Amino acid sequence: MKQGHEPLQWNDSLATGIENIDKQHKLLINILNDANHCFRENGSCELQEKVIEDLLAYTIYHFNTEEELMENRGYGEKRPEEELAHTREHRAFTGKINGYRSAIRRGEGLDHEKVFSFLNGWLIEHVMETDKRLGRFLSLP
Ligand SMILES: [Fe+2]
Repeated sequence: MKQGHEPLQWNDSLATGIENIDKQHKLLINILNDANHCFRENGSCELQEKVIEDLLAYTIYHFNTEEELMENRGYGEKRPEEELAHTREHRAFTGKINGYRSAIRRGEGLDHEKVFSFLNGWLIEHVMETDKRLGRFLSLP
């Protein structure tokens, strides 16, 4: 059986129907898999910090893209609860990655399996539920 920390693979069931979001999700999956690979191969602390920083930077960039789309389409006015829940999930995720970065900086070892089971699981669940919900809203005429 596939373990939660194994590399992710894009498939069409993850599509939100919004081209730019899907394109960014594919890239995010690649960056996450690169980070996963580095930890699995016991990359140096510096390298681990770097891949986590890359992941954090791209995640923030990607969430900004989604949140700009929400703003431009009045998601917060039309679906305030959905918008709030969505952005809260984003904040929680970046907070978690930030925490990993701090731990690496303090020289604490991270539990590779636990970290990537969480990150991978979070991403898939968020895309499948929350981003697809947003995609349906953005696809409305
Ligand atoms: Fe999202």
